[in-house]
Amino acid sequence: MKRDTMISQPKGSSELRDPTACRLPEVEPAFALCIEKTRRNIRRLADEPKSGAWAVDGNYFAFPEGFYDISNWTSSFFTGMALLAWRQTGEGFFLQQVQRLAPHYRLKVYEHERDTMHDLGFLYSLYSVALFKLTGESAHRQTALRAATVLAGRFETQGQYLRAWGRMEEQGTDYAGLTIIDSMMNLPLLFWASDQCGDRRYRDAATRHADTTLRHLVRADGSVFHAYRFDPRTGQALGPNNYCGYSVDSHWARGAAWAIYGFALSYGYARDPRYLETSLNLARKFVANLDAAAIPAWDFKLPPARNPLRDSSAAAIAVCGIQELLRHQPAEAGLRAAARRMLARLCSQEYLDFDASCPGLLRQAQVGDGAGRGRNAYASWGDYFLMEALTNELVPGQPFW
Ligand code: GLY
Repeated sequence: MKRDTMISQPKGSSELRDPTACRLPEVEPAFALCIEKTRRNIRRLADEPKSGAWAVDGNYFAFPEGFYDISNWTSSFFTGMALLAWRQTGEGFFLQQVQRLAPHYRLKVYEHERDTMHDLGFLYSLYSVALFKLTGESAHRQTALRAATVLAGRFETQGQYLRAWGRMEEQGTDYAGLTIIDSMMNLPLLFWASDQCGDRRYRDAATRHADTTLRHLVRADGSVFHAYRFDPRTGQALGPNNYCGYSVDSHWARGAAWAIYGFALSYGYARDPRYLETSLNLARKFVANLDAAAIPAWDFKLPPARNPLRDSSAAAIAVCGIQELLRHQPAEAGLRAAARRMLARLCSQEYLDFDASCPGLLRQAQVGDGAGRGRNAYASWGDYFLMEALTNELVPGQPFW
């Protein structure tokens, strides 16, 4: 590690501290590191728009996926970080770099809309919606509403769910009839659109999808299936499926984190008490599964012989989900303490890469099934949710979602 690129690190062991005490000492140095890395990363993204999803060596810019590729769900983790940086520092540089990408975001949903999938929510909540909330510029509102319209076009009325992957006209593929737990995080774009323009159809698609997820992907014990398959023609429920966890019946930690946060955000918009209760149950189960290491294994139901690799990104997302839950249920002391333990741990040298020349922040994210090429990688989504969690600690306020 080069000395001249080092940023000062938090001192001492976080495990020795009372997790319910006031602000964690790890927060400010970790946030300063986020700002520093974001300063470099956002310029590189604006110079050459791409997805930058993940990297074993932390160099996201070598990731071979273009901005307009159908599988790109990650570009906005960089813009989201830049907008958090701008909100916090007021430095115009961050906003200018993010604004350079506006024509690309516009083109993606006006001219490349057939090559998009359900993660338009991730992409446009952390770009156009966030920019509109921060600047009030109507062009961003227009692009965000267009993205919401394209996303709502993925709603399958027969089965009452948002189709996750693949072009909508492709009916003969494995992806037809498939919905996944991650999609809960795409619902805020739809709720926001209804609130903006008064058209209930976006909100109806969101609540129906959340209800379907509740019925088919959330288990009674507070764990989740990754995916669920419907007959694409009739909408008949066929059964659970898995693409990301260890197995169909396992409990993929990142999926659980998406669901905790997604249901908490849905409650914030729809005020349906079932969403709040679901998020709480999922969060309690998640926390009950943590061991002394504080960071979840990538799947909570691994066979004993499997190495329980940790997924730092699942922890970062879960912290944000719990922070959102605590806005609605501030008395949940156990969840608050667990979130602070996770956050402190993520800010330790084991997880946080203090080398400012490395684009990646958080080590040890598990991509895909945890056994393939994305083992112990840096993931742009983990970095974003870490920065969001830190921001919430510094200045509690509304997230971009
Ligand atoms: N598709 C989101 C994830 O891999 O967590």
